[in-house]
Amino acid sequence: MPQPLLVRDDDPDFAGEFAAAVLAGLSQPQKVIPARFFYDRIGSELFEAITGLPEYYPTRTEIGILTQNAAAIAASIGPGRAVIEFGSGSSAKTPLLLRATAPAAYVPVDISAEFLQQSAGALAADFPGLPVLPVAADFTAPFRLPASITALPKLGFFPGSTLGNLAPDAAIDLLRGFAATLGEGSWLLIGLDNAPGEGKSQGSLEAAYDDAQGVTAAFNLNLLHRMNRELGGTINTADFAHRAVWNADLGRIEMHLVARRDTGFTVAGQPFSLTAGAYIHTENSHKWTLIEQRLMARASGWTPHSCWMDPAGLFAVHLWRRPVPAMAP
Ligand code: AVI
Repeated sequence: MPQPLLVRDDDPDFAGEFAAAVLAGLSQPQKVIPARFFYDRIGSELFEAITGLPEYYPTRTEIGILTQNAAAIAASIGPGRAVIEFGSGSSAKTPLLLRATAPAAYVPVDISAEFLQQSAGALAADFPGLPVLPVAADFTAPFRLPASITALPKLGFFPGSTLGNLAPDAAIDLLRGFAATLGEGSWLLIGLDNAPGEGKSQGSLEAAYDDAQGVTAAFNLNLLHRMNRELGGTINTADFAHRAVWNADLGRIEMHLVARRDTGFTVAGQPFSLTAGAYIHTENSHKWTLIEQRLMARASGWTPHSCWMDPAGLFAVHLWRRPVPAMAP
C-alpha cells in the first residue's frame, strides 16, 4: 500500500502539550482533561469501534444521509475542488464524498499522525489518480495547508458532529478558523447531531455514550492508561468508572471518569487525589437544534445553503458557503 508523505505542521510538541494539559486540568477544582487527547492510536481504534456499535446512531445515520443525497451535494459543489477533511476519514464517509464530487486533491488533517498515515494510505490506494496530502496537525489551532493546493477551490469536510465536542463559543471560533483557512468562495460540508426530540430520548442518547459492550467505557478509560503509558502515571485504573450523562441545561452529553473509592496517584511526578464520587470531566458532546446550528454558521462567516436529514431527524448534514464579497462602488 503506498504511504503518502506526511506533512507535520510547524513544531507540534504533542507530548509536551499532553503533559501540560493533564497537569493543568487535574489541578482545577473540577478536574478535566480535554477530549482531543482521547485520540492516540488505541483511542482512535476504539473510536472506530464505537462508530459501528448498535447504540451509536450518528455514524450510520450520517452515512445514510450522505449516500441518499450524494448527487445533490455534488451538483451544488461541482468537481475539481481540494477536499480538506478536518479529522482524517477512514470510514465509509470519505470515499463516498470523493467518489461523488470528483475532487482535484484530498487533504486529511488529523492530530493522530499514526492513524492519519494509515487511513491516508488506504485512501490513496483506493483513488490511484488523486493527490492525497495528509497534514498532521491539531486543527483547533491555526495550521497551514499544503502549498500545492493554494490555487484550487476548496471544500471543507467536517463530518461526525465533531464540532459538538466544543462549547458553543469555541465551536464558533473553530468555524471562523475554517472560513479563514479555506478562503472566499469555499464550501463547508458539516455533519451535526440534532438535539433530542421525537424519536431521540435522553435514554437513547445516554445509551449511545454508554454501550452494552463497554467500548465507550474503554475509550474513556484509555485516557488514564495513556497517562500511565506516556506520562509515567501511577493511576490504578480500576479505581475509576465510566459515566455518560445528559446535561439538559447545557444541551450536551457529558462523559466522566468517576472515582469508585478515594484514590491517589502521581502523573509526571506530581501528586493528585480524588475522593469517592469525585470525577474527571473528559468530554462534552453538544446536541444543537437546527436553528442553533444555522445561527452558528451565520455567526462564523458561513451562509447556510442546504441541509439534509434522515427521516427521523436524528442528524443533519449542512452545506454552507463562505461568500465572495460583492464589489461595492
Ligand atoms: C468524535 N465525537 C463526535 C464523538 C461524539 O459523539 O461526541 C466522540 C465520542 N465520544 C464517545 N462516543 C463518541
